[in-house]
Amino acid sequence: MIEVTVRTRNGAYPVLIGNGLLQGLPKLLTEHVTAERFAVISDDNVAPLYGEELLEAAHAVGLDSRLFTFPAGEASKTRKTWSILTDDLLEAGFGRDSCIIAVGGGVTTDIAGFVAATFLRGVPVVQVPTSYLAMIDASVGGKTGVDAKAGKNLVGAFHPPALVVADPQSLATLPREERAEGLVEAFKHGAILDEAYFEQLNETVVALLDADTKLSEEAVCRSVKLKAAVVSEDELESGYRQILNFGHTLGHALEAASGYRLGHGKAVALGMVLEAELGERLGVTDPGTRERLEVSLKGLLGPTSNTPNPAESICFLASDKKVRAGKPRVVLLKKIGQVDPGDRWSHELPEEMLEGVFAAVLGVL
Ligand code: GLY
Repeated sequence: MIEVTVRTRNGAYPVLIGNGLLQGLPKLLTEHVTAERFAVISDDNVAPLYGEELLEAAHAVGLDSRLFTFPAGEASKTRKTWSILTDDLLEAGFGRDSCIIAVGGGVTTDIAGFVAATFLRGVPVVQVPTSYLAMIDASVGGKTGVDAKAGKNLVGAFHPPALVVADPQSLATLPREERAEGLVEAFKHGAILDEAYFEQLNETVVALLDADTKLSEEAVCRSVKLKAAVVSEDELESGYRQILNFGHTLGHALEAASGYRLGHGKAVALGMVLEAELGERLGVTDPGTRERLEVSLKGLLGPTSNTPNPAESICFLASDKKVRAGKPRVVLLKKIGQVDPGDRWSHELPEEMLEGVFAAVLGVL
């Protein structure tokens, strides 16, 4: 088992990574969390895989726990689902001595984390990510929230977990396409911080897509260490943490414009290539960077079809979170493995260039 520590304003929390860790989860809870009751929140795809087993194991070590589920999919990441789960917890008599255990992918970690952030003004959450996306991104860093009509993740709170437990063996039950989409965030970590990791991902991509347990464990550890270093330095995204948004300004706009039919990973992959093209046109990003990203991400995802209309996507940029003085911002690479510092790690988005950038990328991807 590898332990990575994430520092926060109020202390620190451990991210435990290891094949087979899920079997020992109840014991880890007794060691790391003080609570009288545990509310396990999971979607209706993941609950049948781990939920009942986890409840039985928890009861066996004397933990009072109960399972709450919601329909799987990004369409559930809403205030409505948050309010149903919150009401269900209240009705079941959960109090301030409760702890929420989020078991699942990125939607679950975000929504269960937001329930925990707001339930009776905040109870602890333990994140148990079961997808690549959740292990290497969503469960680490304390961002929780839901989507709104105007865009993704626009309502939420920073609520760092008490503990994160990532068991790469759980990746085997994930559809291959979801593994591919989650690995986009690993390529992003390489692109912004670590060129050697980017190249290692290229070399091992087939095994990672097959959920090879040893290589998956290594990739999850490397990504978590990279992300932990960033969020430990800037928990509330006042500056440096913005580098994690590479690919997300234009990616989120595509995702929202598609009505969330375009998967998050595919949208961010397109966003990274678009933002690299933009950076090259501005003379900020080294020539050839867009091509390297494009080749790697095509190798991971295959060709992307049914991309939303660029004009509609551009409309969603106005409501993106990454605005300063009302203007959308974008993170640009200097080269693979390094972000251009810009103005506090981002650049104003030159909207007049977007049509050309979208035409150059969406025409060929
Ligand atoms: N997913 C980007 C971040 O956690 O800041």
